[in-house]
Amino acid sequence: MSPKSKWAIRIVYLIVTLLVYSSTTYLAVNREKYEGNDFIRQYTIIGAITLSVTILSVSAFQLLSDLVLGVRLASVNISGKSNPGEPISRWTFLSKLSLGAGGVMLGSFLWGTTKGIYGWRILVNKCSFKSLPQAFDGTRIVQISDLHLGSFRENFGPLDEAVQLINDLNPDYIFFTGDLVNEEPEEAAPWVHVFKKLKAKNGKYAILGNHDYRWGKTDPELEAKNRIGVKTILEEMDFTPLLNEHRVLEKNGERIGLVGVENWGYSPEGWFPTYGDYKKSVEGMEEVPFNILLTHDPTHWEHHIKGKESVDLTLSGHTHGGQMGITIPGLFEFSVAKFLYKRYAGLYSEGDQHLYINRGMGFLIFPGRVGMPPEITLHEINKA
Ligand SMILES: [Fe+2]
Repeated sequence: MSPKSKWAIRIVYLIVTLLVYSSTTYLAVNREKYEGNDFIRQYTIIGAITLSVTILSVSAFQLLSDLVLGVRLASVNISGKSNPGEPISRWTFLSKLSLGAGGVMLGSFLWGTTKGIYGWRILVNKCSFKSLPQAFDGTRIVQISDLHLGSFRENFGPLDEAVQLINDLNPDYIFFTGDLVNEEPEEAAPWVHVFKKLKAKNGKYAILGNHDYRWGKTDPELEAKNRIGVKTILEEMDFTPLLNEHRVLEKNGERIGLVGVENWGYSPEGWFPTYGDYKKSVEGMEEVPFNILLTHDPTHWEHHIKGKESVDLTLSGHTHGGQMGITIPGLFEFSVAKFLYKRYAGLYSEGDQHLYINRGMGFLIFPGRVGMPPEITLHEINKA
């Protein structure tokens, strides 16, 4: 590449960086003025995060290459040799590697915020239970979670496609594990016709997530208003909301329990509503050999279910899998959610109790999915 082209690239890069960071700073300072403008807010966040991650990854390799060069030059000086040829070639290699890493990061973020955000991934979770009645052997349950419909801004096409994918799985049941909206029930109103099309042979059940009561700290009166609003819309979508209640599912004369709790969230700052009450949910429930619990926040399992209640399979969401990570299906997964949650995605087992955390279909704050595709889970439960 000619020196002129190199300078042109540097100048363009500098201008883009300055534009993104100055606009982000401007929007942060004047956030009240742009509060209602989701488009500006979301795309400024994309720009700032994409650029920051790219710069950080380039810098990390650049730092490593500088360290290697420093060490090699120091050793050349100490030994008195005059030809540092080998260290220079290694430095050049690492410099190229740093640009490559930056390119991969930039590409991943651009993909994740445009196409990857709608790249539905169907994951199959096969679980066997000794306590499952024979009649329920082979039951197919589709779990979806964290739709955050307000974030899709009435872009119906991709979710229409997801509904078709779910129906093609021919589920016996569909369970939605909370966070239908970001903040207001009205966000979900235009979506009723889309989710009404979801079909399950034996029923669609849903619970509420922390966002369904509003976002962040609020007061019980507003939360009660939201609870009713979201519950009504779920019913219009033909879901049966389970708010601290249960159902007994029957097949060929055999029975299993399905329990749904309101949100129970652990947060020292009191950001997450804690209305979930398992004991209240199972009041008056007949004895069943097998129990499924729907609870939005997986920390509920950690604090109140594991080793305490007779629940065989718990289905949760909430973490979104961090919306960013590195995934090699079946082999390896790393997510930023790992820093926040002990259990953040997939299946966890302790003794005979199992917890599955769905990575969510929607997105929030960061309008993208990088290395952590939106998930539709097919649970196949079998008699062991
Ligand atoms: Fe969520």
